[in-house]
Amino acid sequence: MPDQKAARRVVDIITGTWQAQALYAAVALRIPDHVAAGHTTDEALAERARSDPDGLRRLTRLLTAMDVLEATDTGYRLTATGELLRSDAPHSMSDMVRIYGEEFHRAWGAVVPAVRTGTSGFQHAFGMTLHTYLRDPGAGARFQRAMNAGNVFFPDVLDVFDFGGHHTAVDVAGGSGAFLATVLARHPRLHGILFDQPHMVPVATAHLDAAIGSGRHEVRSGDIFEGVPAGGDVYLLSRVLQDWDDDRCATLLSHIRAVLPANGRLLILERVVPDHGETLLPLLYDLHLLMAAGGRERDLAGYRDLLSAAGLRLESVHGLALETSLLVAAAA
Ligand SMILES: C[S@@+](CC[C@H](N)C(=O)[O-])C[C@H]1O[C@@H](n2cnc3c(N)ncnc32)[C@H](O)[C@@H]1O
Repeated sequence: MPDQKAARRVVDIITGTWQAQALYAAVALRIPDHVAAGHTTDEALAERARSDPDGLRRLTRLLTAMDVLEATDTGYRLTATGELLRSDAPHSMSDMVRIYGEEFHRAWGAVVPAVRTGTSGFQHAFGMTLHTYLRDPGAGARFQRAMNAGNVFFPDVLDVFDFGGHHTAVDVAGGSGAFLATVLARHPRLHGILFDQPHMVPVATAHLDAAIGSGRHEVRSGDIFEGVPAGGDVYLLSRVLQDWDDDRCATLLSHIRAVLPANGRLLILERVVPDHGETLLPLLYDLHLLMAAGGRERDLAGYRDLLSAAGLRLESVHGLALETSLLVAAAA
C-alpha cells in the first residue's frame, strides 16, 4: 500500500512554491490595488489587469482559497493578508513578494548547482553576485523596501534592550535607516550614525529625515570591511552577518571591536539556527541565504565563536518576532 500521508506531504511541499508564485502574480497584476480602488469583480479586475478573463478568474479563486481575497455578494474584498499586498499599505509587503517571485525564484532555480558548489544560486542564475546586482539604484531601493517589509521585529528590540544609558548609536550597513529611525524615535536624546554604501546614502537620509527630522543623525558612506565609524557606544548590526562568510564576518567584527568603548554594546539581529531543528523558518532562510547573497544563518555556538575571535563576548540573547533574535555583545 502506498503511504498516502507521506505522498500528501510531498505534494503539499512541492505545490508550496505555486502559492508563492500565485501571490507574486497577484502583486505583479496589482490585484490588491485594483480591489482597494473598487474594481471588485472578476470582469473589472481582468480589464484593469489587462488579463485573460478565464485566467484571472482562476487566479482570484485560488487567492480566495489562500485567504488573500474574500468573496462578497458584489465581488471581492481584501483580507488582512490582501491588505498587506497593496502597494500603498503602511507596511506593504508587495516589494518583498515581487523580489521573492522574480529574482529569488530564479536564484532558487539554481539550487542544485548552488548546493553542489557552495556558490550562490544568484551567481549561477544571474552571472553576478546579489551585491553587484544591487548596486543598480533601482534594484537596491526595491530590495531595501523588501527588507523593510520584513522589519516587524525592530520595535521588539526597544522592549528588551535599554538604550537609556547610551549617547550614540551607529547602524553598521544600516540600509534605509528603518532600524535606526525606530530606535531614535523612541529615544530623543540619542544620536545616530548610519553607515552604508554610497548608493544607500540618499535613501537613508530621506528616510531618517522623514522619520525623525534633521539634527540628530548623520549618514556616512564607506566599506564595512575597511573600517566603521568611531564615536558610538552602541553599534547595530541588523541582518548583515547573514550575508557573509566567517572570514568577512571576522574582519567586520574586529573593526567594530576596535572602536567599541568599554561600556559599549553591539546589537546583532539575525535568525539563529535552533539546536534541534524544531522550527523551519531559520533553516529555510539559511538555505535561502545560499541562494541569495551566498551567506548563511548560524547557530548560537557559531555566533559565540565569531564574536570571541574578534575579542567580543555574547552577553545575552532575546527572542523577537518572526523567529529573529537579538544578540547583545560586549568587549570580552
Ligand atoms: C541585508 S541589508 C541589511 C540592511 C539593514 N541593516 C536592515 O536590517 O534592514 C545589507 C546591507 O549591507 C550593505 N552593505 C553591503 N556591503 C557593504 C559594504 N562593503 N560596506 C557597507 N555596507 C555594505 C548593503 O548596502 C545593505 O544595506
